[in-house]
Amino acid sequence: MDALGTETAFEVLAKAKALEKKGKDIVHLEIGEPDFDTPKNIKEAAVKALYAGYTHYVAAAGIPELREAIAEYISKTRKIEVTPEEVVVTPGAKPIMFFSMLALVNPGEEVLNLDPGFPIFESLINFVGAKYVPIPLKEENDFRFDPEYFKGKMTDKVKMIVLNSPENPTGGVLTREDLKVVADCIANRDDVFVISDEMYDNIIYEGEHESIASLPGMKEKILLLDGFSKTYAMTGWRLGYGVMRKDIVEKIAQLMVNSNSCTCAFTQMAGVEALTGPQDESAKMVAEFKKRREVIISGLNNIEGITCKKPRGAFYAFPNITGTGMNCSSLSDYLLNNAGVAVLPGTSFGEYGEGYLRLSFANSVENIKKALDRIAEAVKNL
Ligand SMILES: Cc1ncc(COP(=O)(O)O)c(C=O)c1O
Repeated sequence: MDALGTETAFEVLAKAKALEKKGKDIVHLEIGEPDFDTPKNIKEAAVKALYAGYTHYVAAAGIPELREAIAEYISKTRKIEVTPEEVVVTPGAKPIMFFSMLALVNPGEEVLNLDPGFPIFESLINFVGAKYVPIPLKEENDFRFDPEYFKGKMTDKVKMIVLNSPENPTGGVLTREDLKVVADCIANRDDVFVISDEMYDNIIYEGEHESIASLPGMKEKILLLDGFSKTYAMTGWRLGYGVMRKDIVEKIAQLMVNSNSCTCAFTQMAGVEALTGPQDESAKMVAEFKKRREVIISGLNNIEGITCKKPRGAFYAFPNITGTGMNCSSLSDYLLNNAGVAVLPGTSFGEYGEGYLRLSFANSVENIKKALDRIAEAVKNL
């Protein structure tokens, strides 16, 4: 158990809540979830499903209607042919990370992971006894990886590569050229798989989302992870999925039987509505995130000692705070305790996160402005 890590966002949230209990006013920019409510048509579909009897166990890999809707959605958006048998539904997308590592990675094997990156990957890599190999994402490269560095890490011990684009926490977006570098490295390697975390596929501000699964010859090697939490503001519903080879789907379904039995039935019916119903509410959320991005990025760049690149996707600002003279963990503690702003230190996302903070802008413009004023004042007083 000592090898298992965690997601610091939940720890900072607990600290912030404790301060609130003592009467302190805190602006929450630590947790990565849309502040919008789930669209009404999706909630209505869940209620309808409840009354229609979707209150029992269902198939471990997901109900057929949802697997079909997902197969259609991924086929259309990634321009590949996906069948329902290549889809597995889970309670949130996180179990896809957990189950894929358990199913495919053996102790001693190497897993390449973008760093800074979503912390659960590093945690799970260590948990299964594999070797965590960070692939640094550098600010000067728009938080994309260096192709030569990546190629240098492709030893014959590599079993898994984890990609995430648009990325949490940097907001970096991998280009088709970046994905081709990965594809070329594994074209002749039948022993290597890629987890492609595409959770933020719809939250992209410039250009189009590119999936490695779309590149020639890649589909069979990819475990594509996606879900409903971010695009449809459904974090509390716990609904996500993986798209992968049918034989691996069967293993993931077996892990589902051993852990959850199945994903909540009426939630899955809401998922069908999310994917097949009107998309305007989700588009409105993305437009709003785009506006907030302008506010937070220009505000951060106006604070002495802080600079911030514009993220191309997701809803996180990842400012460089080296000019403040503090390390990221001291600065995030200082901001929480002295300014009433909850943010995350960059090192919550791996060693290459030092020198940065992560601020979620899935919060109102009013709260973002309040946080910026408080941060500016606190940094001035350092
Ligand atoms: C990159 C990334 N992948 C996956 C997830 C997990 O999402 P879910 O709520 O579906 O488990 C998150 C949530 O923060 C995320 O940021």
